[in-house]
Amino acid sequence: MRLVLLGAPGAGKGTQAAALAEHFGVPHISSGDLLRDQVAAGTELGRRVADRLDRGELVPDGIVTEAVEDALADTPSSGYVLEGFPRTVSQARRADTLHAEGLADAVVLLELADDLARQRLAERAAEGRSDDRDPEVIERRLRRFHAVTEPLVAYYRGRGVLATVDADQPPEAVTVDILAALDAERGAP
Ligand code: AP5
Repeated sequence: MRLVLLGAPGAGKGTQAAALAEHFGVPHISSGDLLRDQVAAGTELGRRVADRLDRGELVPDGIVTEAVEDALADTPSSGYVLEGFPRTVSQARRADTLHAEGLADAVVLLELADDLARQRLAERAAEGRSDDRDPEVIERRLRRFHAVTEPLVAYYRGRGVLATVDADQPPEAVTVDILAALDAERGAP
C-alpha cells in the first residue's frame, strides 16, 4: 500500500498516518518531521529551512523533494504512508515522473473546516511546535493550504485515486472511515 494523506494543517494527517502505518505494517513518512529533524540536528539543510518552518512558509520544492525521495528510497517494497508531501501540483508532477507507477496507489483527503483546524493547532501550541505559537503563522499555513495544496485534490481526482473522509470525528472513527474508503476503492466486498 502506497498511501498519501492530504489535508489542511491540523486535519490529522500525522495522527492518521501513524495509525495507518501500524495497521498496514509500513513506514510512516512525514515531510514536516523530516524537515524538523534536520532543524533539531542543526544540519546545513536544517539551518536553510528553519526560518521558513517558523513562518509557515513552504520549503523550496527541490529541498523537500530530495528529503522525501531519500526517505522513500529507504522504505521496503511493501509501501508507505506519506503525509505532508506532495504539497503543490509541481511536487506531485515531479514525484510522478520519479516513480514508474506514480507516487500513490491511493490518496485520502482529510476534510476539516478551518475553524476546527485553528482550534486544534491552538490547543497543540502548548506542546511547543514553533509554527503553532503565533495565530498569524497558523493563518498563513491555512492560506497556503487553500492556495497551493488544495489544487492537488483535482490533480489526484483526475487520476482516479482520491477518496475523501470527514476528519471532524474522533481519531479512531476517522481511521475506520479511511480504511473503509480504501476498501471501497479497491473493490473489496
Ligand atoms: P507539516 O508538518 O506537514 O505540518 P502541517 O501540514 O501544518 O500539519 P500539522 O502537522 O500541523 O497537522 P496534521 O494534519 O498532521 O495534524 P496532526 O495529526 O498533527 O509541515 C510543517 C511545515 O514544513 C510546513 O509549513 C512547511 O514549512 C514545511 N513543509 C512540509 N512539507 C512540505 C512540502 N511538501 N513542501 C514545502 N514545505 C513543506 O494533528 C494536529 C492536532 O490535532 C494534534 O494535536 C492532534 O492530536 C489533534 N487531532 C488530530 N486528529 C484529531 C481528531 N480526529 N480529533 C481531535 N483532535 C485531533
